[in-house]
Amino acid sequence: MLGCRVAVVLLLLISIHGQDQFGEKDQNSYVAIIGAGVGGSTAAWFLREQLGTSAHLDLYEQGETGGRTQIFKQDDEVFEMGASIIHEENRYFRELADRMGLERERPGVDGSQISIFDGRHFVFNESSWSLVTLYRMLERYGLSYLYMRQGPQTMLQRFKQLYQLQEEGRAFSTPEELLQAVHLYNLTQRTFRSELQDRIGTGAAANLFAKEFVAGINRIQYNQGNSINALAGMVSLLPTIDGRLFRIKGGNRLLPERLIGAANASLHQGVKVTKVHRTKGGLFELHHKSSKANETIVSRRYSAVLVATPLELTDIAFSGFMVPHMPVRQYQTTVTTLVKGRLRPAYFGIEALPKGEYVMVTEDAQTPFSVIGPQKSLPDGLRIYKLFSRQSLEGTTLDAIFANLTVLADREWKAYPHFNPPERFPPFRLAPGLYLNNAWENAASAMEMSAVAAKNCALLAAQYLKRTSLREREVAFGQDSSRLEL
Ligand SMILES: Cc1cc2nc3c(=O)[nH]c(=O)nc-3n(C[C@H](O)[C@H](O)[C@H](O)COP(=O)(O)OP(=O)(O)OC[C@H]3O[C@@H](n4cnc5c(N)ncnc54)[C@H](O)[C@@H]3O)c2cc1C
Ligand SMILES: *[C@@H]1O[C@H](CO)[C@@H](O)[C@H](O)[C@H]1NC(C)=O
Ligand SMILES: *[C@@H]1O[C@H](CO)[C@@H](O)[C@H](O)[C@H]1NC(C)=O
Ligand SMILES: *[C@@H]1O[C@H](CO)[C@@H](O)[C@H](O)[C@H]1NC(C)=O
Ligand SMILES: *[C@@H]1O[C@H](CO)[C@@H](O)[C@H](O)[C@H]1NC(C)=O
Ligand SMILES: *[C@@H]1O[C@H](CO)[C@@H](O)[C@H](O)[C@H]1NC(C)=O
Repeated sequence: MLGCRVAVVLLLLISIHGQDQFGEKDQNSYVAIIGAGVGGSTAAWFLREQLGTSAHLDLYEQGETGGRTQIFKQDDEVFEMGASIIHEENRYFRELADRMGLERERPGVDGSQISIFDGRHFVFNESSWSLVTLYRMLERYGLSYLYMRQGPQTMLQRFKQLYQLQEEGRAFSTPEELLQAVHLYNLTQRTFRSELQDRIGTGAAANLFAKEFVAGINRIQYNQGNSINALAGMVSLLPTIDGRLFRIKGGNRLLPERLIGAANASLHQGVKVTKVHRTKGGLFELHHKSSKANETIVSRRYSAVLVATPLELTDIAFSGFMVPHMPVRQYQTTVTTLVKGRLRPAYFGIEALPKGEYVMVTEDAQTPFSVIGPQKSLPDGLRIYKLFSRQSLEGTTLDAIFANLTVLADREWKAYPHFNPPERFPPFRLAPGLYLNNAWENAASAMEMSAVAAKNCALLAAQYLKRTSLREREVAFGQDSSRLEL
């Protein structure tokens, strides 16, 4: 009896000592998030949902909130320079936008029929009459389009099962497990090209469809051809299947911005995290530098940390734990250029352009751009166009394509992974209490992918924090805690 009392007192002393050492009362309620893009901001929201009001959330952002969702604004007119469209079935993004009081709008541009350019000729022109377009599709591509439709729809149905799993509180330590739970893993292990061949065959019409139409869409979405993995391919094609798309009025970056406020996360902007160190006590210290001062600052200690940026695009060192194997993923460079002007028909070797002036290009078209998309028609007859390219476009190149040219804005991105199936993934869970949100970005990169990963990581973190605080209580009351696996 006495021995037991002594043990309890000793344990209490140890835990009090622990508090002294850490200098904080409730360690479990401090969580850090690195990166304030869609991933980091939705993670803040989901963590708040999981941990309640007493948790303290610190959000570190080296640059702009919104990450890869940035806009160019001119006379109240907003143009997306990064991520622009979302599918209506992307539940988290849609519901959170509604919840934050943001207005959703259709991304459509006035009468922009698509034409496909192979570098020399326009091989396909969409008509403003859908029956005419359908006839042209059948004529050039046979039934390929119809055969292909099923793929993205099945993918979407499977993807939607993730919401159900997450509602039940299911979380996964690795992308493989998460993808396997909804039967999407296999798609990440093969190229979209081979998936296409299985679905539409290898006849002449099917090959044209793959090279011209499908690869053209992939160049718009991921600036890559059909060598991307099949899941990314399905994600890329989905918008063309049913057209149920939206964007946020005023810019998609309004969602991250509002979520940070609504989740009551403390934003440390202009602060670059350089190191995550796991202490012997299992807490985390962040080393960071502000853009103003050069000295490294060591943060307070956190119970959990969520890294919401691709590690490949930043240099964050890890110490104090065994870092799991992490394949290094390459990122695709995409340059967004916004111009005002008039397309020159002569550049395309013709006298008059196809009506819509939305130019996508075939898989191996040797064009300096990957797509030209009209954004707005101006009263003076000029238009605003957005171009994606793999390298930045020289003034002389742009002058050859456009008359009356003004460059409004340009921005170079490390935009999304350069997909390379079979994809290998780092884990979501790097260590107990430490999570990597962008672990599955090379399955497919999209704002909703980052949001679903954020929910997964928030669930993992919450489950971990509950277990550790339970363990601490059990230690304090002298119970056996060895069965609690951390
Ligand atoms: C041109 C383009 C077009 C796209 N089109 C679409 C689209 O139409 N639809 C769609 O859904 N997706 C699209 N995407 C993809 C989409 O943008 C991304 O998948 C998504 O936004 C990734 O969000 P994230 O929060 O995971 O990463 P990010 O947005 O990259 O956020 C990471 C943040 O972390 C910060 N950070 C990095 N390192 C540190 C550090 N050490 N310390 C502190 N902060 C750090 C960065 O500054 C950044 O703000 C597009 C992307 C690009 C570039
Ligand atoms: C927001 O967080 C801060 C710091 O953790 C806290 O002091 C404040 O009470 C919180 N506000 C709300 C409304 O929860
Ligand atoms: C994935 O591939 C494996 C091995 O080829 C196969 O056994 C399994 O049935 C496939 N799973 C799905 C969901 O297609
Ligand atoms: C910041 O510190 C690093 C290393 O401590 C040094 O190499 C660098 O020159 C410093 N930069 C500035 C702007 O002081
Ligand atoms: C598409 O339209 C352009 C311009 O009007 C024309 O030159 C081209 O031949 C058309 N292509 C097809 C396949 O009809
Ligand atoms: C476009 O350029 C031409 C020739 O330089 C000029 O005559 C015309 O007025 C310009 N149009 C607009 C709308 O600026």
